[in-house]
Amino acid sequence: MLEGKHIVVGVCGGIAAYKVADLVSKLCQAGALVDVVLTEHAEQFVSALTFSALSQRPVYTNLWEPTGEAAARHIALGQAADLLLIAPATANTIARLAHGLADDMLTTVALAITAPLLIAPAMESQMYQHPATQANLRLLAERGATIIAPESGRLASGEVGQGRLPETPTLLAQIRWTLGRATGDLVGRRVVVTAGGTREPIDPVRYIGNHSSGLMGFALAEEARDRGAETLVIAGAVSAPMPPGVEVIRVETTLELRDATLAALADADALVMAAAVADYRVEHPAAHKIKKGSAEENGDGSLTLRLTQNPDILAEAQALAEANGLTGLTRVGFAAETHDVERNAAAKLRRKGLHLLVANDVSQPASGFGVSTNQVSLFYADGRVERLPLLPKTEVARIIWDRLAPLLSERSADKVKR
Ligand code: CTP
Repeated sequence: MLEGKHIVVGVCGGIAAYKVADLVSKLCQAGALVDVVLTEHAEQFVSALTFSALSQRPVYTNLWEPTGEAAARHIALGQAADLLLIAPATANTIARLAHGLADDMLTTVALAITAPLLIAPAMESQMYQHPATQANLRLLAERGATIIAPESGRLASGEVGQGRLPETPTLLAQIRWTLGRATGDLVGRRVVVTAGGTREPIDPVRYIGNHSSGLMGFALAEEARDRGAETLVIAGAVSAPMPPGVEVIRVETTLELRDATLAALADADALVMAAAVADYRVEHPAAHKIKKGSAEENGDGSLTLRLTQNPDILAEAQALAEANGLTGLTRVGFAAETHDVERNAAAKLRRKGLHLLVANDVSQPASGFGVSTNQVSLFYADGRVERLPLLPKTEVARIIWDRLAPLLSERSADKVKR
């Protein structure tokens, strides 16, 4: 989605300026055209050559340089840009932007740009928290800029506080999300993605769980976010980091996952159940840690856990959708199978009333839990089957939303007709 996008990156004079070199490199690797504008003070920290070597494009520094190139380019840069990111944004530049000053190349370009503006402040925490900086940021936010909150941690002064520039993945996520909201094919859609595994308590310290890492669910959530959807992730136990830029609800048990999922469906366009859900829970979890030789044991020293069946969340979602006339809710299930993948998948699709079922054979080493690749087949409600090769989970997520986006449009058009 960054391919061919024109991104202007403004860099101010702060110690975090060096981190932006990595960001520019990642943007270029993803196929974006990146024009870098440095303030005079930024050049004290990083050189224009660093950025031009990475972007393979001229870097703008001085509005008044003798060739007149920069002065002539600022309007063109503004018109071509799909997005302007200012990182790190210092208190001084934030103040200049808030008050519409145009006394250097960056602030002049900022006035010429109509594309979305992202500002990533980074400075000592006293400066960030100063009422003047906060008022300036509010002013910019009121005019439509997105402020990427600085993170807490060790600052250049050695003190600990809020003021650090977020790392490249967070900045990249914000850029993708902002571009998605402007032009994505899921703008105006609300999607719910469940991810990770459920845990069913045995006693206060033990549980029955599974190997789900959350990777596939998070890749689906990130892709939906990047296409402009308002995205809610309901996450159980996961080992992958939480995706930025999406709303997250944490749950533990299947019953909690069921409640959170059903509660989110009223205004959703799609439910994607990538979570690995426990089919059974312990009927009576012990209130205290089960000790060897305790009353819970059978007479022969063995222990019996009685399991009771959990509700089927997708089946309940289908019933809820039918009962409440949620005709526009597209439902997607996942099936992790170890044998007879095709037959089990087709039966599951029908049983759960799904529009799409994504099936994978988790007995294959490069497919399934905890690995970054997946080999899946897509089973559609009309009987079609699409077999995909082994792909990174991010790519699988992209293909799934490629298929779902037109389905969502069709179904909501259908909903309007009715
Ligand atoms: N699922 C669900 N509620 C459950 C169990 C599973 O909504 N109680 C969802 C999963 O999130 C997944 C799909 O149903 O999207 C298929 O999950 P799977 O465990 O493969 O299916 P089961 O219904 O458990 O079928 P089986 O036990 O026959 O494999």
